[in-house]
Order: sequence, then structure tokens, then C-alpha cells
Amino acid sequence: MTLPPSPVIDALQSASKKMADRHTPFIFDDWYVAAFSDEVSSQLLARTLLGRGIVMYRSAAGKVVALEDRCPHRSMPLSVGALQDDHIVCAYHGMRFNTQGDCVHVPSQSTCPKSMGVRTYVTFERGPLIWIWMGPPESADWSRLPEQAWLTTEQWATSHGYMHLKASYVRLHENLLDLTHLSFLHAKSFGTPDYASAAYKTEIKPGHFVVMRDVVPTTLPPVWAEPTGIKGQGQAARIVRSAFLSPAIHEVSVSFYDCTLPEKERPTFRIRTAHLPTPETATSTHYFVVHGRDFAQADSAMTQFMHEQLFVAFNEDVTGLAQQEAALARTPTNELYEFSVGADGPSVAMRRYLLSRALSTL
Ligand SMILES: [Fe+2]
Repeated sequence: MTLPPSPVIDALQSASKKMADRHTPFIFDDWYVAAFSDEVSSQLLARTLLGRGIVMYRSAAGKVVALEDRCPHRSMPLSVGALQDDHIVCAYHGMRFNTQGDCVHVPSQSTCPKSMGVRTYVTFERGPLIWIWMGPPESADWSRLPEQAWLTTEQWATSHGYMHLKASYVRLHENLLDLTHLSFLHAKSFGTPDYASAAYKTEIKPGHFVVMRDVVPTTLPPVWAEPTGIKGQGQAARIVRSAFLSPAIHEVSVSFYDCTLPEKERPTFRIRTAHLPTPETATSTHYFVVHGRDFAQADSAMTQFMHEQLFVAFNEDVTGLAQQEAALARTPTNELYEFSVGADGPSVAMRRYLLSRALSTL
């Protein structure tokens, strides 16, 4: 008999209710990645962010414009219209909207109805990313914009990519704070068998959830062994810090060195990955990733190699999380329960934080 007795199930379900999941409302008062900079041009780009339809484009002056993607006349998506002289012309009745979202022309009459317009969103472009404040423009809190200096300095060579994830962004954050899965879900890519059982430390404070692991000695998988040249069995140190920084960003920082060399003689190779989940719907997520390294910055072949290898691994998460979401969806709510184990401490705390943030703005 492996089914828990009903009091245990009740307790597990009660614990789960204190954590964010796919039913939890989105957190609007924060910055999220809306797009990569190279995605936004003079073509209209439609994207659903936190359940809201948004249309984006770049004005003639180069500024990113983000507007509600719904004509206030008869609800035609503005993104299927045309861009003319920085104005969106609705495909249905030709009404025009400027970069401020104001209606500036109605073809069938000489004036626009008073106050007719669409909602605008505050955006901020930095390095490869376009951030969007999903709350009201007047509440945009610049102190919440994640500081990511390494994304814009020449000290770091970066590449970026996008995956569409058929799972809640909450589960992606959970995945990133639970790196014991590297030994299993990523057994064929960047995981190693010793990773799951390596000792770890945590930092848990409101809005700040970190897991640190020193895997020493270990053997590096090819994605790291090739670029660093640390290819021997048990030759490497793999020092990992995995940090939730906001609902929109989780940063993984890793240092590698040859642990067979004396401390003063060994170079340290550092890599970083910004995992940038932006909810699309309750059960789908725009998964933006920027990866960087602070060595061999000019080696474009190395950039290409690492990018391809990494995205094989990240796609293992995308596949696994979608399978997990499907299993959740087909389980009747009254029969659904999940056990947590010790390594879930940071992710449980993070999910409680997300729930408190979501409920505080309702
Ligand atoms: Fe993973």
C-alpha cells in the first residue's frame, strides 16, 4: 500500500495551498522580459504576457513601443493591422493609434471620440533584453529592475535563445532551485551522477532564494570540459550558485577549475546563465535565456558550441516540465498531492513568496 492515509493527504494538500502554483494569479507589479532586442523592429510583434495581449514595435526613433493589443472600437487585435509613420492602423476600420496609445484618426469622422485609446506599457531596453513593467505605468518601480551588468560588458561573451515552455513559470523557477535533477533529467547532457548527492547550502530570505553546491572533485561533461580543457576523470571543481532574483529572473553562476593544480596556478573559468521566464498563460511560459562566459570571449566557435550543447540540456527541462504539467492537468484536484523533501526547502520558500506577492496586489 503506497497511497498515504487521508490525514496525510489532507496535510500535503494544505501545505500546497500555501505555495504558488499554476492557479495563482500573476504578479503584475514587476519587470519581465518582453522580447529580445533583436526581435522588435518596424514589424508589429504580438505576444501574450501574463495573460495580456500586447503588441510591440520599434518607432522610427528606435524606441520600443508596447501597447494593449486590442482596438477599443471593436476589439480587433492591433497586431494584425499595419504600422504607418509610427502609428498602428487597425485592420478593421482603419483607426490610427500613436506611440502613446491615443487614437489620432477615425476614417469615418473628422474627430476621435474623447479619451479613446489603448493602454501603454513602460519598457526598458538594456543589452539583449527588452524589459516590460506589467503594472500600471505610474507604478513602475525602477528599483525592481534586475541589475545585470554582465549582460552588457565586454568581459562576458554572451549568446541568447528562446524556448516556448508548456508549463507554469512557477514550475520553471522550482526546477532552477532544485538542481538535484541534473543527475537524472540531464544525465545525458550537463548532469553528472555525483551532483544530486553533493552537499549544498542555501540562503532563504524574502525574495532571495539561493542554492549553492561545490562538486569537488568531479568530471566535467563535454559542454564545460571542451571549453575549459579540464577533461580528466575527477579533475574538476564545479562551484555552483543558483539564485532566484525576481519572478522574472533566475541566475546560475558556475566556476570551474582544475582541482589537481595548486591553488595559485589554476585558472578559474566562469559561466553565467540568466533564466528569464515570463508567464504567457497559467500553463505556458516564454523561456528566454542568456548565457555568458568570462574567458575566450572572442572565440565564436566556442560560443556556438556551448550554445548548442546548453540548449540541448535546457530543452530537457522544457520537455520534462511539459510532461509534469500534463500529469498535473489530468489529476483531479481532490486527488492531487505532492510530497516535498529536504532539497525542496528553497523552492518551497520561493513558492510561498510568489503566492504572497500575488495575493498582496489583488
Ligand atoms: Fe534543468
